[in-house]
Amino acid sequence: MKQDQNQQNQIIIFDTTLRDGEQSPGAAMTKEEKIRIARQLEKLGVNVIEAGFAAASPGDFDAIHEIAKIIKNSTVCSLARASENDVRRAGEAIKPAVSGRIHTFIATSKIHMENKLRMTENQVVERAVQAVKWALEYTDDVEFSAEDAVRSEMDFLVRVFDAVIEAGAKTINVPDTVGYSIPAPWGERMAELIKRVKNSDKVIWSTHCHNDLGMAVANSLAAVMGGARQVECTINGLGERAGNASLEEVVMAIKTRSDIFNLTTRIDTAQIVPTSKLVSSITGYPVQPNKAIVGANAFAHESGIHQDGVLKHRETYEIMRAEDVGWNANKLTLGKLSGRNAFRTRLKELGIELETEDLLNAAFARFKDLADKKSEIFDEDLHALVSDEFVHEASENYKLVYLQVASQTGEIPHAFITVSDNGIEHKSESDGGGPVDAAFKAIERIVNSGAELLLYSVNNITSGTDAQGEVTVRLSKGGRIVNGQGADTDIVIASAKAYLNGLNKLHSKLEKMNPQV
Ligand code: KIV
Ligand code: ZN
Repeated sequence: MKQDQNQQNQIIIFDTTLRDGEQSPGAAMTKEEKIRIARQLEKLGVNVIEAGFAAASPGDFDAIHEIAKIIKNSTVCSLARASENDVRRAGEAIKPAVSGRIHTFIATSKIHMENKLRMTENQVVERAVQAVKWALEYTDDVEFSAEDAVRSEMDFLVRVFDAVIEAGAKTINVPDTVGYSIPAPWGERMAELIKRVKNSDKVIWSTHCHNDLGMAVANSLAAVMGGARQVECTINGLGERAGNASLEEVVMAIKTRSDIFNLTTRIDTAQIVPTSKLVSSITGYPVQPNKAIVGANAFAHESGIHQDGVLKHRETYEIMRAEDVGWNANKLTLGKLSGRNAFRTRLKELGIELETEDLLNAAFARFKDLADKKSEIFDEDLHALVSDEFVHEASENYKLVYLQVASQTGEIPHAFITVSDNGIEHKSESDGGGPVDAAFKAIERIVNSGAELLLYSVNNITSGTDAQGEVTVRLSKGGRIVNGQGADTDIVIASAKAYLNGLNKLHSKLEKMNPQV
């Protein structure tokens, strides 16, 4: 009987926020940031964490290697193109993992094979099989993806999958790399593959959908209905171009419509919102307010009729409970009188380990500073505050020392600033169209970066007028795009910190290859 394994009723959640998610413009993360997200993903209960693409850069390799040492309850995976060097780098990177996976891929559509790979069908099959065999030297948990499966010919896909299963692949991933499919044919394609591929019952079938037509989640769910038992997705739907299927939407659809799916996941749904906030704050990708599940308005009822209905009987207008996905889980944690120990303990509970006493002391000093300005400190504040510490440690070029901005009705705003460049202080001043513009111009007078500002956004981290503002700037220079973040109760200071953080990232050597190029 075909499909024994696929009939199990738990969906494997494979999170690729740290790999495909990181391919969003400007979302490159430092090793420390990746480790924090990996810890939170483990807490969330994802089955597989795709921690990066080991051959992309020494930084990627290091991050995967560290994550493989730390994570115990999720499988840690590295992506690898179907080349010997890539697969061996991936194998070395995941070596310390309790459970490690290599995910190797090669394109199978005519358009990719002819124009990008310049390989024949026979060569692609041979290379795919060889890549699986190299990977098996490191782990028996090998996943194979047929890149651009959506535009690949069915007969050829069947041939490739037959061959890689024979070679020992345990998970077969069918990606809609370019976000081209629509739900019904995608579900049918999955079902047909499972029917036609030899030994399909010996492997887990997986789907990986991009959101170019806004259907990544719908397509993933259709694939599940067609027999897929692994879904590849990202937090907040982050990812290449329009992004990937969003983890929170896939998981909550399966849970909320269990009458249709009759399937489960092992996700602790109460960790969804905290994870979304962490990823948003680290990558600098804000979550749109009307985003399903994790948007600020996802559970807000505006119309009087709806409010009345919800007050009388919640289910009139709510299909999920806000608390089930982690809204309101941001416990009031600490206040002005909290001591260093309480601070350290709460950070630990949040999965944040500051490596040195100096870092802890610096973070605690900032915390005290913040507690003077803001009466209640929430988990989100702590994440932002500690981001600042990691940021400063990771990139030591520019640091904000002093900022004064004069802004008054009818007057031109003017900023005075002191920035330290590797410990040497520089002062400057500038007018501007507004206080933030004046601060940025004053910074540019010192650093002369020539970077182009592509995006500027401010979000409140928690509610209330004393909330910290979290500012994201996206800067571009010489073909590189980075996001810089800064948080402070004063949004002009937060903006200056974000700008300097972006400049520091431009200076750092976070060079990456895109695995799909
Ligand atoms: O979109 C894609 O095809 C991918 C593969 C590497 C799985 O990300
Ligand atoms: Zn992808």
